[in-house]
Amino acid sequence: MNTYKIVLLKGDGIGPEIVDQAVKVLNKAGEKFGFAIQYEEALLGGSAIDAAGTPLPQETIDKCKAADSTLLGAVGGPKWDTLPGDQRPEKGLLGIRGALGLFANLRPAVIFDELRDASPLKAEIIGGKLDVMVVRELTGGIYFGERGRKEVNGVPAAYDTEMYTVPEIERIARVAFDMARKRGKKLCSVDKANVLESSRLWRATVARIGAEEYPDVELSNMYVDNCAMQLVRNPQQFDVIVTSNIFGDILSDEASMISGSIGMLASASLGSGKAGLYEPIHGSAPDIAGTGKANPLATILSAGMMLKYSLDQPEAAQAIEDAVSAALKQARTPDIAAEGLRTVNCTEMGDLVCSLL
Ligand code: NAD
Ligand code: IPM
Ligand code: MN
Repeated sequence: MNTYKIVLLKGDGIGPEIVDQAVKVLNKAGEKFGFAIQYEEALLGGSAIDAAGTPLPQETIDKCKAADSTLLGAVGGPKWDTLPGDQRPEKGLLGIRGALGLFANLRPAVIFDELRDASPLKAEIIGGKLDVMVVRELTGGIYFGERGRKEVNGVPAAYDTEMYTVPEIERIARVAFDMARKRGKKLCSVDKANVLESSRLWRATVARIGAEEYPDVELSNMYVDNCAMQLVRNPQQFDVIVTSNIFGDILSDEASMISGSIGMLASASLGSGKAGLYEPIHGSAPDIAGTGKANPLATILSAGMMLKYSLDQPEAAQAIEDAVSAALKQARTPDIAAEGLRTVNCTEMGDLVCSLL
């Protein structure tokens, strides 16, 4: 029997509640599909600051590097919001992505049929099947560029730098083209090439990789402001979107509402190896932490992505998606509550998915 080593980074706020549900589902999937998982917890974010004085202890990096994959809840919260930038919980998250070389972040904005009514978009805009894959560059750009404070003309100022190297753009472009090739063969590269030099390099590099290596994939370009509008005007036009770190962050939160709730959108962060880091795209939701209102499905679906992308268990991954779909027919967490269906808390939703698996 295969035994996988998985690190759990529960993090802050709703992080522990949602990760616990995904662990239950992973264990059930293991029983059903004949694999076992050995878990090890490690500290990240605010809880790591409190326990170890740093948002990313070296021990956490070492554990993640030795594991088959990592499952993360979320980090951050008001308690740590006044810390200097390089000591904040979020710095730990950027640090672990960087340390593990996870440059490609896959964020699938999919609508489950059961949730069509939960989406703020009209039925005719959602259309038939809606399935947009946002491929976000994750270890470059303004998140990792030079930043600081200085004085300009005698007044205090601050700066952050957006920069991409050609190899960074090439490797994320290849991930996106490969993804498009396996799907609808359509890739839209999103940038701000009408203003930013880094975007002009991005656009030219993506075009070259497309022409040289992926002539079978239809490539288009779009400015990010237009893309934000098109995602709600006509999301059907998109198959795969590839974009920079910051644009991908913003557009994927927007795209999450296609699915009905940010509590539904999973993600996979991948590098050149097999191991990945899997997390919901939402944050630690301090406003509902501890109330049982958190939707655990994005985390459960992230665990499903882990089975698919890192652990070679595609049937188990599909079974989790099917169980989520079945659970949505019976009950809802408050964020996607529907008339006629039971409203359940985070733990009850986790139990329901397990029982349907
Ligand atoms: P957020 O995603 O935590 O919350 C935004 C809104 O969505 C809130 O009203 C919240 O209650 C709701 N929400 C989020 N996840 C939900 C879920 N699973 N079920 C039901 N409702 C959910 O974003 P924010 O409020 O801007 O940020 C809060 C903290 O989280 C900040 O410290 C931020 O830096 C951090 N953050 C962390 C991550 C991460 O760890 N990957 C991602 C985003 C934000
Ligand atoms: C996300 C989050 C993070 C990001 C923050 C918390 C650093 O918003 O995972 O989307 O911006 O990448
Ligand atoms: Mn985000």
